[in-house]
Amino acid sequence: MRAHVITFGCQMNEYDTLTIQSELVAGGHELVDAPQDANLILLNTCAVRGKPIEKVVSLLGDLRKERRAGRDVSVALMGCLAQLDEGKAIAEKFEVDALVGPGAITDVLEAIEAIEEARFAGERAAFESLRFREDLVDHHTPPHEGALTGFLTIMRGCDHHCTYCIVPTTRGPEVSRPLEAIVREAEAMARAGVQEVYLLGQNVNSYGLGDASLPSFAELLRTVARVGIPRVKFTTSHPMNFTSDVIDAIAEEEAVCNYIHLPVQSGSDRVLRRMAREYGRERYLDIVREIRAKVPDVVLSTDIIVGFPGETEEDFSETLSLFDEVAFEHAYTFIYSARPGTPSHRHFDDMPKRIKTDRLARLIELQKAHSLRANGALVGRELRVLVKEAARDGDFVMGHSDQQHTVLVPKDQVRRLGLHSVRVDQATPHTLYGSVVGADVGAVPLRLAS
Ligand code: 5AD
Ligand code: SF4
Repeated sequence: MRAHVITFGCQMNEYDTLTIQSELVAGGHELVDAPQDANLILLNTCAVRGKPIEKVVSLLGDLRKERRAGRDVSVALMGCLAQLDEGKAIAEKFEVDALVGPGAITDVLEAIEAIEEARFAGERAAFESLRFREDLVDHHTPPHEGALTGFLTIMRGCDHHCTYCIVPTTRGPEVSRPLEAIVREAEAMARAGVQEVYLLGQNVNSYGLGDASLPSFAELLRTVARVGIPRVKFTTSHPMNFTSDVIDAIAEEEAVCNYIHLPVQSGSDRVLRRMAREYGRERYLDIVREIRAKVPDVVLSTDIIVGFPGETEEDFSETLSLFDEVAFEHAYTFIYSARPGTPSHRHFDDMPKRIKTDRLARLIELQKAHSLRANGALVGRELRVLVKEAARDGDFVMGHSDQQHTVLVPKDQVRRLGLHSVRVDQATPHTLYGSVVGADVGAVPLRLAS
């Protein structure tokens, strides 16, 4: 079939899409760039908040309309939404042909077989696979040729039970991939010229926990740091699994970037308890103090939810004061979204939207001030930037620093994509503008920028 995959949500989903695409190619199907050219559209969905679900619903609405108007196209609903009752109901309503959960993505070829058979009979397939396949943890490697950045999933699922989060339901319990499979994949990336690898998982630093045959996350990090990829980054981390040996590995291993994403969610002990985050404000601050002491130039980012049920103005002000105390360089901020099936949805009442949006606006203002302060301090400094692609403003190319700053460089200064030394000329809260200084600093031959 002529297939087109549309990805929503996190980097785990982007990696899963690569896996889905390699399955499709292995099965003899063609990947098409434009959705209009496809006769099979696969939606790799996210269910963590209401917004990404709304986007999927609207897309499915459009597709149903086109099909009713005579377009010959089948639709597969894959990923986190597919795993939920909510997804099943949506699939029914919009006459989706296949429902494939995030633990079953390698069943995609089976789904297509069912779709093809049904098409032959002039029917709708209604294929369903929602199992958590064990072999998915050691599945084949998606190709990396020509990529500067590689995603590498090291574990799947989550054993924490944060009360707002649907992920333990959609992605199931934690399973770590075998060390050899990870190292093999990292080595393949190094050979293919990948300059930066992201080790991915819902909770990467609980890698190997409870399995004596596997190394700890810190040991894994040190191993991957030595395969020859210049930069190693990882996401996401749970503070309770962020142990001293991980901080030491970051401090000591040259290739491990001094960038840490450490979701705090709230600054109020009372809210953290209701979220079942397993730590309090002081414990989080202790971890941050250890990180900043051992990794002085670290950039810290976080996730924060505002408007969790029962969050008072005082609770919220504790989130603001924690933000000041940590001085996060960056943050992803979210309005609490009640997810059916989560404990917080069952046990607590949602609060008025107005209060939530007001708090979000105040938090974003504070976050911008911190980002501007941190970015402003970089003006005049040189950063190593992985220049990746043309920026939206056509006069610039875009890249990321070792510490994950978004950096724009005038296009005429860059002959090749890859690692460059860049001097920062100007800073805004979200972007640094810089000039290339000296030669390319890439460790391997770099490709010509288009
Ligand atoms: N509502 C709002 N934000 C959420 N997140 C997870 N679940 C919810 C929810 N129900 C946020 C958390 C998490 C990030 C990936 O998404 O901050 O760290
Ligand atoms: Fe969700 Fe919490 Fe697990 Fe993160 S750690 S995926 S927020 S349950």
